[in-house]
Amino acid sequence: MGIVLSIANQKGGVGKTTTAINLASSLSYLGKKVLLIDLDYQANATTCMGIHRGSFEKSVFDCLTEEASLREVALKTDNPLIDVLPAKTTVEAIEEKIIMNTNRDFILHTQLDEFKDEYEYVLIDCPPSLGYVTINAMMASDGVIVPVQCEFLAMDGLTQLLNTIRLVQSKKKINKETLTIYGVLLTMLDTRVASGYQVVNEVKTYFGEKVFQTIIPRNISCSNATFYGVPVTEFSPKSKSSVSYRQLAKEVITRNE
Ligand SMILES: Nc1ncnc2c1ncn2[C@@H]1O[C@H](COP(=O)(O)OP(=O)(O)O)[C@@H](O)[C@H]1O
Ligand SMILES: [Mg+2]
Repeated sequence: MGIVLSIANQKGGVGKTTTAINLASSLSYLGKKVLLIDLDYQANATTCMGIHRGSFEKSVFDCLTEEASLREVALKTDNPLIDVLPAKTTVEAIEEKIIMNTNRDFILHTQLDEFKDEYEYVLIDCPPSLGYVTINAMMASDGVIVPVQCEFLAMDGLTQLLNTIRLVQSKKKINKETLTIYGVLLTMLDTRVASGYQVVNEVKTYFGEKVFQTIIPRNISCSNATFYGVPVTEFSPKSKSSVSYRQLAKEVITRNE
C-alpha cells in the first residue's frame, strides 16, 4: 500500500520543493513508483519535473474544487516511475472555495483514497502557509516531513506548524487514522559556518530521533539546478546535495519498513 508524505513548513525558502523533487527522483532511482503532488501556486515542483506551464489544462487545484478528478489531472513525466499532479499559477481564491465545501478538510483525502495505491510513495509539496490547502495535504497523509533550514531563527514558527499537525492528528483520530511526524530534515547546512551546527544541535535536542540522520548541505549545484528547472540529482548527480538526497531516500524507505 502506498504511503503519503506531506513536505510542509509554512516558512518559504526552507527547501520544501527542493526536497519534494529530489526525494521523488531519488526514490525512483531505487525503483519506487512515485506520485508527486504540487500544491504550491508557484508550481516550481511541476516545472522542475519537466512539465511546461501551458502544456496542461487542469491542475490539482481543480481537484480541490471538485471540478476534476486526480486521474484526469495526473501527468506522466520523462521518468516512467514518476507521475505528477501539476499546479497552476493562476489560482484564484482557492482557499475561499475550499471553505465553502462541507467536506473541506477531506477533499484531497477522498480523491486520493482510490488513486494512491497505484504508487509506493506519494509526496506532497505544500505551499508556504497553514491554510486549507496544507490541511488537506496533511489530512490525506500518513506522515509529515518538515524541512528546517540551518539558519538563524530556524525554529521560529515551528510551534504553529506543530499545532496544525496536532489539530489534523485529532481530526484523523476520529476516523481511526494517524499522522506522524515522519521526519525533520535539516537543509542548507553551510558546513563552513559554526552557527549552522548550532541549529543542528538545537533541532536535534528538540526533535530527537525524529531528525533524519541525513543533513542536506548548502550546495551551489542545488540552486543551479533550480535555475535550470531540474532536480539536482539529475542536473549534477555527483554533487554533495545529490548524494545527500539519495541518502535521504534510503532513510525514508527504512522508516517505512
Ligand atoms: N541544499 C541547497 N543548497 C543550496 N540552495 C538550495 C538548497 N536547497 C534549496 N536551495 C535553494 O533555496 C531556494 C528555496 O528552496 P525551495 O525548495 O524552493 O524552498 P521552499 O519550497 O520551502 O520555498 C531555492 O532557490 C533553492 O534552489
Ligand atoms: Mg516551494
